[in-house]
Amino acid sequence: MEDFLEEVTLDDVSSHIYELYSHPNEHDLGIQSRTSMVKVTIDDVDKEFEFQQSLSSLNQQGSTTGFVLWSVSIPFVGWILNDKLSPYDLRGKTVVELGSGVTGLLSCALGPSCKHYISTDQHHILKLLKQNICSNLCDFASSTMHIPSNGGKLKGTVDVVELDWEDLDSGVWNLQQVCSLDSIDYIVACDVVYNDYLIPFLVDAIARLCHQTSTVLIALQLRLPENIEQFVEQVLTRGLRIWRHLEHCLVPELREGFVIYRITR
Ligand SMILES: C[S@@+](CC[C@H](N)C(=O)[O-])C[C@H]1O[C@@H](n2cnc3c(N)ncnc32)[C@H](O)[C@@H]1O
Repeated sequence: MEDFLEEVTLDDVSSHIYELYSHPNEHDLGIQSRTSMVKVTIDDVDKEFEFQQSLSSLNQQGSTTGFVLWSVSIPFVGWILNDKLSPYDLRGKTVVELGSGVTGLLSCALGPSCKHYISTDQHHILKLLKQNICSNLCDFASSTMHIPSNGGKLKGTVDVVELDWEDLDSGVWNLQQVCSLDSIDYIVACDVVYNDYLIPFLVDAIARLCHQTSTVLIALQLRLPENIEQFVEQVLTRGLRIWRHLEHCLVPELREGFVIYRITR
């Protein structure tokens, strides 16, 4: 395979995990900022975004993690947009994001070059996610939001869809209202492996959406090794193939404390 990837098979999951965790990892929990507004600058698109987060919702009992931006997503976007390092070109492609969170950073930074970018998450995340996308983008078509117009030519399509991995049939139905599953070129997700209960549901969602020619890119912060191990094993036992990207093809910020997986059929 290409010299930027290392395939993981069921026989070498343990050594893969050992190797991932053999480097020093100085990262904290991974919340990018504990302020209600978070500014993100992505040099490659020469653009600054500003997103509203909901710290009060994050701190509520029983809350989920999607109310704030998580650190891996910023260098992941920078890497995808870095023509010299990233082997992926999302321009003109149809991309579905799983577990987007409220900020919509990937929609705003990657969406503009795609043909169709679809952010998905659980129901309670979607209102603020749509608000953030609409306040950072203009002149995009959408059947799920009123993205403001500056009178310019429409640059592509950006949508937000409810897709709860624990209610996959409904989520897939929702997705099919805006795109055909066959048209999905890429499935992307940042920081979605952190809870052992959710892993089988997430892997089911990946397996359901990943067809013969689609590519899945998952960027993860390395926290509990057993969660990463469970994720890789479950991907493999569903008959999918999984590779990790070698450090030399990643931006420096992703080389320690994170892993970027590529999954295909
Ligand atoms: C750690 S956050 C990461 C958010 C965002 N991708 C980022 O990097 O900032 C995990 C995301 O997974 C989503 N998530 C958790 N359980 C989910 C489920 N059952 N179905 C869909 N999304 C889920 C959360 O709502 C949250 O947005």
